[in-house]
Amino acid sequence: MAAIAVSLATSLTSAVVPSSLTSFVFNKLNSAPCLRITFSVSRFSSYRGGGKLMAHSLVRATLGLTQPANIDVPKIALSAKEIDVAEWKGDILAVGVTEKDMTKDDSKRFENSLLKNLDAKLGGHLSEASSEEDFTGKPGQSLVLRVPGHGAKRIGLIGLGKSATNAYAFRNFGEAIAAAAKTAQASNVGIVLASSGSTSNESKLNIASAIASGTVLGTYEDNRYKSDSKKPVLKSVDILGFGTGPELDKKLKYAEDVSSAVIFGKELVNSPANVLTPAVLAEEATKIASTYSDVLSATILNAEQCKELKMGSYLGVAAASDNPPHFIHLCYKPPSGPIKAKLALVGKGLTFDSGGYNIKTGPGCSIELMKFDMGGSAAVLGAAKAIGQVKPPGVEVHFIVAACENMISGTGMRPGDIVTASNGKTIEVNNTDAEGRLTLADALIYACNQGAEKIIDLATLTGACVVALGPSIAGVFTPSDELANEVFSAAEASGEKLWRMPLEESYWESMKSGVADMVNTGGRQGGAITAALFLKQFVDEKVQWMHIDIAGPVWNEKNRTATGFGIQTLVEWVRQHSS
Ligand code: BES
Ligand code: MN
Ligand code: ZN
Repeated sequence: MAAIAVSLATSLTSAVVPSSLTSFVFNKLNSAPCLRITFSVSRFSSYRGGGKLMAHSLVRATLGLTQPANIDVPKIALSAKEIDVAEWKGDILAVGVTEKDMTKDDSKRFENSLLKNLDAKLGGHLSEASSEEDFTGKPGQSLVLRVPGHGAKRIGLIGLGKSATNAYAFRNFGEAIAAAAKTAQASNVGIVLASSGSTSNESKLNIASAIASGTVLGTYEDNRYKSDSKKPVLKSVDILGFGTGPELDKKLKYAEDVSSAVIFGKELVNSPANVLTPAVLAEEATKIASTYSDVLSATILNAEQCKELKMGSYLGVAAASDNPPHFIHLCYKPPSGPIKAKLALVGKGLTFDSGGYNIKTGPGCSIELMKFDMGGSAAVLGAAKAIGQVKPPGVEVHFIVAACENMISGTGMRPGDIVTASNGKTIEVNNTDAEGRLTLADALIYACNQGAEKIIDLATLTGACVVALGPSIAGVFTPSDELANEVFSAAEASGEKLWRMPLEESYWESMKSGVADMVNTGGRQGGAITAALFLKQFVDEKVQWMHIDIAGPVWNEKNRTATGFGIQTLVEWVRQHSS
């Protein structure tokens, strides 16, 4: 199926678009039909089989001349092995060492027994090189030596710092291994910790899984939009010294499933807004549902259907765009057994945020990065993909995205307009750039109507949150201590950084309107908090709700790519609710 879709699509782009592909479509609300060029096939996806010809067609703003290449993400085989480390054969044996592991005795020999044994086999080469190159095990440090005539072609010492205790540190360790493997063009690596310590069985499993996902994600490069790209060569990873057995195998499979979902999420965010329109995002969601159709179903609402549901807040944001809105709802139900918890994940899905009439201008406004304004939806759809693969029992999960673009045109929302959300509340739009909360308002009402007991929304909502917490920490807002505990424990296991922020009710004062129930922006002060208070207006009080502002961590400025932030924590949270 996928192959058919691809070859069809390829032939479409190579020539002038035939007239049979043009059609009349309704765009914008209440507007006359207009001529658009449409394609019946999404060529967005490169990573999954199951590509499906869709009944509805996709409006293409740029005639589809830019399309992602169909590069398969190479699979990396993860396996746990119980063999003597010195006997391991392959390209790089990567040893994770703490600063303590690097201590040496008076005769400059390692005290750590694993390093001591390796060093003896290498005739003291390892201790000598580490002293000469001043390798002390600091985090981020690595030392790779070629060791001809041994089972392993190279030995790599990778620094873990003073002590590695959390998932975050072990994920970084995995990423450092991936970097070393790239440099050495290694196709297989063995991974071991110099001291595994006296950790419990459970934390051993978590460490192995954090290392494995760090290695897989560190190896991945998004080359779909490059005309010339090299393929990663890493094919297999052997996890040594963690034991073997079905429990560990299951954990590694879980790490693999979640990592593939993170890669999917990164690809969604990296795709530019001229390729990833709301329709294409909806198409991607539908594909996930059809790939895991045993447990997932999809409902996509068009503008007309959203209008019937009175989603005036969401549709106000979408009104300026030639790319029509698509409201996405995936529903996960386990293959069998009773359902004990009904959960909903809601993601902000602005495929582009120009600011609208309050256009983003001036240095630092980052308008050119606003393709990432659907990072919340990428986290939610990434989580759907992982959950479709893992199939946790005992939970029902709704994945909800009110996807649209925030643009400027004669049909667009003006500053000062009053919009009405689907619960009847009215909003004076004093700033069209505070559009995310307007789309989330209707999405949260919809989530409550699905009977969700707990709702988490993720959104690149405010620049203020980035000012408060910097680029790598997400802000968490919730009135529920119980939900906070659950999500923080999930984030602990996944290694994603969250920080709880106050929902200061007295700040609601600045959100009052003279003519409507509320305005959509308060002052500059406490901007992330007033945004969260705004969302709270649209959630039933009996529902446990959390808002996560991911405006900072959605994007890695250093690598100039998406991070896939949120997916691992969401999947872990759902798993913890599963029986
Ligand atoms: N998508 C932006 C938030 C954003 C800004 C994310 C910078 C990442 C980096 C959001 O829609 C927005 O424009 N928020 C405004 C709100 C303001 C008008 C109250 C902001 O943060 O400036
Ligand atoms: Mn905005
Ligand atoms: Zn936005």
